[in-house]
Amino acid sequence: MKIIDRFSEWFELRKKIGASTLGFVPTMGSLHEGHLQLLRQSVEENDVTVLSVFVNPTQFNNLEDFQNYPKNLGKDVGLARSVNADYLFLPSYEELYPDDYTYRIHESSFSSIMEGAFRPGHFDGMLTVVMKLLMLVKADRAYFGEKDYQQLQLVRGLVRAFFLDTEIIGCPTLRDAEGLALSSRNSRLTAGELIAAAAFPALLADVELSDAVVRERLEALGFSVDYVETHEDRRFGAIHVGDVRLIDNVFLSREES
Ligand code: PAJ
Repeated sequence: MKIIDRFSEWFELRKKIGASTLGFVPTMGSLHEGHLQLLRQSVEENDVTVLSVFVNPTQFNNLEDFQNYPKNLGKDVGLARSVNADYLFLPSYEELYPDDYTYRIHESSFSSIMEGAFRPGHFDGMLTVVMKLLMLVKADRAYFGEKDYQQLQLVRGLVRAFFLDTEIIGCPTLRDAEGLALSSRNSRLTAGELIAAAAFPALLADVELSDAVVRERLEALGFSVDYVETHEDRRFGAIHVGDVRLIDNVFLSREES
């Protein structure tokens, strides 16, 4: 696996890759099995796979959250190698933001609810960096997790709105044995919090409960709840467990068993 941290080097390589199919997995690092699953699927479906690791400052609405974001590049390199990624792209802020973020992508509808309502500016930063990365990498396919379903839908909309030539592939959420969605932020939970947090996906998935009741049950367990909302048969939620914020979503199957 080759590590690339200069755009000039990437542009040369991109020419060489030419018409071979290119799969791309953008991440903020601190890789876990959820990321590796996206990488495995890309390796399986494409001739060449590029992973990017960039903790994008413009999508953090809170400086402390940015500073606390877990970083583990040494481990990430080993994990990316273990799944046979071909290139690890490590852009710098200076090269990625020559405009210092004076130009940005703003979606004015779906991005204003849920995560958008609680993290002002988050989706502008996310969409802007994803746009930049898609323009640079010029992948045939890019892989995104359903874990961040609102993000996935917004990225699909971005590609449609600007006629980008990359197919967006959504991949199912990988969970631990207790049902908690894997997340880089889980590494900041204590052992006790990790066990307690398993109630979050279980309550979201309970089709017998209304959004309001799910919220009440989460609050009764001591979590601070940002939102519990259902859109098109998918229930979304965001909670605070100690000082860690978790998000999740589950498809509500209404089939009788
Ligand atoms: P990050 O949180 O590192 O996630 C990178 C990708 O991994 C996203 O598409 C996310 O949905 C997916 N992912 C994370 N946990 C997952 C899980 N448990 N199961 C399946 N997929 C999972 O999302 C971002 O980074 C950033 O916003 C980014 C798109 C890189 C732009 O900065």
